[in-house]
Amino acid sequence: MNINLRQNLLTAFTNRFGTPPVFFARAPGRVNLLGEHVDYNDGFVLPAAIDRDTLIAFRKSGTARSTLFAYDLREETTFDQQSVLRKQDSNGLPLSTWARYPAGVLWAIHAAGLDTPGLEAVFASEVPRGAGLSSSASVEMAFGVAWEKLGAWTLLPIQLAQIGLKAETQYVGVTCGIMDQFASACGVKDRLLYLDCRSLVYHTMKLPGEAVIVIADTSVRRSLANSAYNDRHASCEEAVRILKGYMPNIRTLRDVPVDQFRRYAGKLPTTVAKRAQHVVDEIARTNQVINLLEKNDSAGFGKLMNDCHVSLRDLYEVSCPELDMMVTVAQSLPGCYGARLNGAGFGGCTVNLVSRQAVKFFAFDLGNGYAKMTGKQPEVYICHAADGASVEKVK
Ligand code: GLA
Repeated sequence: MNINLRQNLLTAFTNRFGTPPVFFARAPGRVNLLGEHVDYNDGFVLPAAIDRDTLIAFRKSGTARSTLFAYDLREETTFDQQSVLRKQDSNGLPLSTWARYPAGVLWAIHAAGLDTPGLEAVFASEVPRGAGLSSSASVEMAFGVAWEKLGAWTLLPIQLAQIGLKAETQYVGVTCGIMDQFASACGVKDRLLYLDCRSLVYHTMKLPGEAVIVIADTSVRRSLANSAYNDRHASCEEAVRILKGYMPNIRTLRDVPVDQFRRYAGKLPTTVAKRAQHVVDEIARTNQVINLLEKNDSAGFGKLMNDCHVSLRDLYEVSCPELDMMVTVAQSLPGCYGARLNGAGFGGCTVNLVSRQAVKFFAFDLGNGYAKMTGKQPEVYICHAADGASVEKVK
């Protein structure tokens, strides 16, 4: 974790609240190797927690109120259990967008019958916002473990992820799946996580030894993404409603095998059919990836990533020109096994699987190639899979 950021938060906390904080909580963002837009269809995903965190310096406030200073935004809010029910701060003003994430976590913890003592907190994030690296889930999970510490209760990391999901879907209002909160809570150093989003059973897997994950940021930030995201989710539900007429036993698109889908796709409105086809094919791809990983088949894995990008671009239609350019440049470079847009799409980062030997040149050439095409200088970095959310005492 960034030492300077810790130091800055310590200073800012002491300036704001008079004496130093007692704890640090941290929770990482995530990258996803395969299984995009399938978590809310009960599919399989393959994310990893990344080595970039949201960090909170905090302690008990000693009252029912929580006061949070968002260091990156230089903004503060104070709320309590009653005011968050109305999505208001303690003065009766509407909570700002950023404050809805921690407030939603407080609300969801409280709804689970667990204690949420008031806290004083200063927080900041190394996870860029709107870049598809799950900055919101990292904020949720960092506050989740902070309240777990102060409330003196414990949950399994996957249960904490469920709390975060409830906050995001029912409080913030994005109809997302559990992947991001799961990766942020359950991450394991140097491992990929393979999650069945229906049973919530997961196991960890190693990347092939010669492969590394590279994240490249188009620097395009998502706009109007929440409504487009909710719209994609709604199309998947519509597909299930119609397909149930032919396959009464299905619950979600997870239950529709590829061949059955081909048989009935013509019964769906054109756009709905495209969305559903992406999901059905993507779930099939994630089923294949396990075998490939066990055989250390980086090339096979990378090809599935490339196929995934085409499908997200043409069927799910969540790409944008900059993401497509970044992926095209990456795929043309030596040592690139696969490249695709990462996360919800509409801007943000690409994820690349690259040979360890080629990675330095790859990062350099990708940055230059993209800058030539767009005039934007991207951030390109090697990502090391990290552990999930945790709390430690300030020394
Ligand atoms: C966002 C959501 C996740 C998931 C991805 C797309 O990150 O929060 O639940 O749906 O998009 O795979």
